[in-house]
Amino acid sequence: MKEFCIMPKIVQIDTAKEFCKTYGIGRGDLLFVSGHMYERFFKTHTEGAVIVNYRNYVSGEPTDLMVEGIYKDIQDVDYERVIAVGGGTILDVAKLFALKNISPVVDLYEHKIEPVRDKKLVLVPTTCGTGSEVTNISILELTAIHTKMGLAVPELYADDAVLIPELLDGLPFYTFATSSIDALIHSIESYTSPKANSFTEMYSLRAMDIILNAYKEISSQGGDVHEILLGELLLASTYAGIAFGNAGCAAVHAMSYPLGAAYHVPHGEANYAVFTEVYETYQRLLPEGKIEDLNRHLAAILNCDVRNVYKNLEKLLNQILSRRRLRDYGVTEEDLNDFTETVMTKQGRLMANNYTKFDEQTVKQIYRKLW
Ligand SMILES: [Fe+2]
Repeated sequence: MKEFCIMPKIVQIDTAKEFCKTYGIGRGDLLFVSGHMYERFFKTHTEGAVIVNYRNYVSGEPTDLMVEGIYKDIQDVDYERVIAVGGGTILDVAKLFALKNISPVVDLYEHKIEPVRDKKLVLVPTTCGTGSEVTNISILELTAIHTKMGLAVPELYADDAVLIPELLDGLPFYTFATSSIDALIHSIESYTSPKANSFTEMYSLRAMDIILNAYKEISSQGGDVHEILLGELLLASTYAGIAFGNAGCAAVHAMSYPLGAAYHVPHGEANYAVFTEVYETYQRLLPEGKIEDLNRHLAAILNCDVRNVYKNLEKLLNQILSRRRLRDYGVTEEDLNDFTETVMTKQGRLMANNYTKFDEQTVKQIYRKLW
């Protein structure tokens, strides 16, 4: 059986002002937005809405403590609709606030609290990466168990995903790099997932084309050109979100989570740290299969021999973001055993989507090689 669905209504609007007017943002709304975005785009169009400036709660990736902090501050607020404007961090966190009961949030992630949806949810991405606006997944670092976990339930789908290219204006190059590499990895992991089907493949391939062609343009014309490509990349990240929302991500995400959680490496960068080695390993373990189609597609975009596709891919990606060794992030040799154990015991949801099965030994070898 193959399944494909696009749950949120996808809306494209040119400006934040038009968005606020169309959605009548005000009383009864809980608006998650950074202080900077609020001042620049929303302040004069959202009177009556309760504002949550998530930067007051966390500086990097989302944690259970951040959710509990926000929950404590807004538990007496009456709201019927959650509107979130931001990168993957804020969208993932805001999704939880559309549920009836979310605390203790660890219990929600361990399925001890039943997710019941009782508010409307509108998600507006401001980076070109996570695709969170079109998925039913919320990723949090659970500080008690030192890893990131995903909660994937239908109750976390937005009602509307709204794409506003204006909000990406001035996106710093590093944020562009980490978020778009994340989107590229979504498109590739979903393509080789056993849950992929003709529909997800179409979205995966289109996302790969847009992102890699953008990187080629940046590589030949310089970093500044990324600004004019952002509108296209916003679309590509949503396409990749649709693909992995249906077919799933796999070992790259699973193996990057312990690194992200233990050493606070931004999600896209942590993914890139393990990405090419995971695919080299797939290639060694099972060279005949879906990976052949992927390699041919990538080789055509990269204009290289199919046998050297991962070397060439890494060469291009390194011009966008340099890949670092795990030890450069502070990872110790002992960590590699802990990381492996976490992946094998806590990331079953993702590891089930691997192109070919990875046992404990394989995971450890990959980490060792990357160290
Ligand atoms: Fe991701």
